[in-house]
Amino acid sequence: MKTRVTEMLGIKYPIVCGGMMRVGRAKLAAAVSNGGGLGIMTALSLPTPEELIEEVKLCRTMTDKPFAVNLTILPTIKPVPYEEYARAIVASGVKIVETAGNNPQRVLPILKDAGITVLHKCTSIRHAKKAESIGCDIISVDGFECAGHTGEDDVPNFVLLAVAAEQLKVPFLASGGAGSGRQLAAALALGADGINMGTRFLATKECWVHDNVKQALINGTELDTQLIFRRLRNTSRLYKNSVARQLAVLDADPTKTFEDMKALAAGAKAPAVYAEGDIEAGTWSASAVMGLIHDAPSCAELIERIVNDANDVIRNRLAKIVAA
Ligand SMILES: Cc1cc2nc3c(=O)[nH]c(=O)nc-3n(C[C@H](O)[C@H](O)[C@H](O)COP(=O)(O)O)c2cc1C
Repeated sequence: MKTRVTEMLGIKYPIVCGGMMRVGRAKLAAAVSNGGGLGIMTALSLPTPEELIEEVKLCRTMTDKPFAVNLTILPTIKPVPYEEYARAIVASGVKIVETAGNNPQRVLPILKDAGITVLHKCTSIRHAKKAESIGCDIISVDGFECAGHTGEDDVPNFVLLAVAAEQLKVPFLASGGAGSGRQLAAALALGADGINMGTRFLATKECWVHDNVKQALINGTELDTQLIFRRLRNTSRLYKNSVARQLAVLDADPTKTFEDMKALAAGAKAPAVYAEGDIEAGTWSASAVMGLIHDAPSCAELIERIVNDANDVIRNRLAKIVAA
């Protein structure tokens, strides 16, 4: 498969693993890249810019293929030195960066001056066009289906991607809810130059999270996600466990404020979920793609399967429909 994105990123298949806070570490990124996709490490998973440089070095010991670093710019309780992380990325020699969360303008000059290809992930066409206008090279169009921050527009990919195809000049990836070959074929048909997946890559052999998390994704269906923080206009799609349900109740109660929800939503519970496998301990992001997750293969097996199935749909199903 050859698309504008495979050409620009120097990868074999048009499949990207989106940045995942705490989850996106060197081993997963290397496995995705070795499988022919683009692996992405999440900068803020590393407590300091110096440790990020070490993590990049570690990734290089595991793959000689291109990989990227994600820099997510979001309002945080503790200020994050984003420019320092951007400079650390430059110093590490990484040539592809995924920005997300907010307008990447504050770090863009640092990245572009170093010749880095910037892939910006956003949930609306107006943000995508803004990112395009300030010099981002590729857009990851994150539909309402996506895990984590969905934005507030609630436009799912069936429409969002088709609008992106009409309005964007730079190549774009379909992000949100993807996990199968027929979806890759559909994304290409809708005008995307590839797909970006988060949740699907959580359930892979090389992802370090506890097997209970992978099993929860396998057992889960497309109905098992929960939106929280709607009222705060900071909507997040989570795995629907008891904590996410409690947060949704608080979110719907106008007498409650963020202060009342802070402890339940705290990232401090993440180790109990991801490392110890207590899937009810705290919040964790997942999307409706759970309905399509039935196993936890290696990243290479997953990527091959998606590409083969997409090829099959294009060659055997779509081509015949046109011929008929
Ligand atoms: C556990 C988890 C953590 C995530 N953390 C981040 C993050 O820190 N920054 C970011 O830009 N996106 C983050 N995402 C979103 C993914 O990069 C990707 O955009 C999203 O998962 C796509 O939707 P999908 O899960 O349906 O594939 C996260 C997703 C998951 C599942």
